[in-house]
Amino acid sequence: MMQKQLADTSTDDLDESAEEATFQDIDMLQDQGINAADLKKLKTAGICTIKGVQMHTKKALCNIKGISEAKVEKIKEAAAKMAVDSGFVSALNFSMKRKQCFRISCGCADLDKLLGGGVESMAITEVFGEFRTGKTQLSHTLCVTTQMPGAMGYTGGKVVYIDTENTFRPDRLRPIADRFNLDQSAVLDNVLYARAYTSEHQMELLDHVASKFHEEAGIFKLLIVDSIMALFRVDFSGRGELADRQQKLAQMLSRLQKISEEYNVAVFVTNQMTADPGAAMSFQADPKKPIGGHILAHASTTRISLRKGRGENRVAKIYDSPDMPESEATFSITNGGIADAKE
Ligand code: GTP
Ligand code: MG
Repeated sequence: MMQKQLADTSTDDLDESAEEATFQDIDMLQDQGINAADLKKLKTAGICTIKGVQMHTKKALCNIKGISEAKVEKIKEAAAKMAVDSGFVSALNFSMKRKQCFRISCGCADLDKLLGGGVESMAITEVFGEFRTGKTQLSHTLCVTTQMPGAMGYTGGKVVYIDTENTFRPDRLRPIADRFNLDQSAVLDNVLYARAYTSEHQMELLDHVASKFHEEAGIFKLLIVDSIMALFRVDFSGRGELADRQQKLAQMLSRLQKISEEYNVAVFVTNQMTADPGAAMSFQADPKKPIGGHILAHASTTRISLRKGRGENRVAKIYDSPDMPESEATFSITNGGIADAKE
């Protein structure tokens, strides 16, 4: 009994320190002699926590307007001093941190099961498939399900939706809210929407997202980008620009990954696919591949391919996962959003 109590106490302590580590405000660096004006510049660039400073290279910090190399050195030093979780942590401590990780339901039990419980926080989940396979409908559904309190202490929260294809329809959220017995206006009010017009704009929006997540710490639970590649496809064309495109894409994905960890949110991105003539030639079963190449493949923690099934049914399949079996799940697209498959 005594031992059990002791174990519980230490667990709570670890939980608290893990929580602290996630949201150490950058303003704490003032105690280390960094002036408020410089901290403001960092915040404008979307760096709002001490962890955020640690997640950016000195070179990246130097690129922020008004921050000199000397200042960067001072800021880095100060952050290292203040950080509660810099360097090594015990596996036990790390597992406590992972415990804060939560999952968001997709509205279909089979699909949730396929994903190991739903869309995971502190990670990037990518769905790709041909047109009308339900990527945008799934994004809309997640806007609503994120707001539902769930299992294991998950309390529900707000969503940021970055739309690159102009296919977000706020009114589409209404019948989905009805299905989950949530107030329509409250649901719409909790979804922050931005339309991105260029790949650069898409990147800039992430700075705003980071400040927003910081401002309302712990309130936002999901960041959607529908679709991640569309603007890159337009802005960079032809082989000559491919290397440049992939470099910019890598920066964006690294930013997304950092945001997901820094603020404990789920990142959900949709992607398009391309016919791969090379694969068809080699008699591969599925000659269609997601675009974005290795950069996107490595950045996504979980990749799901979607294909059409009978009628309103769609089939989801884990793509290329090292640790999950290659199983499938069938769901349907309904007026109330993504739901269990129809017979
Ligand atoms: P692209 O963005 O074009 O690549 O496609 P997508 O994968 O995003 O497809 P999307 O999610 O837009 O799915 C479109 C499908 O959802 C179509 O087959 C529509 O008929 C269906 N759909 C959209 N709204 C509703 C609805 O209110 N009720 C039902 N039953 N189906 C809907
Ligand atoms: Mg779409």
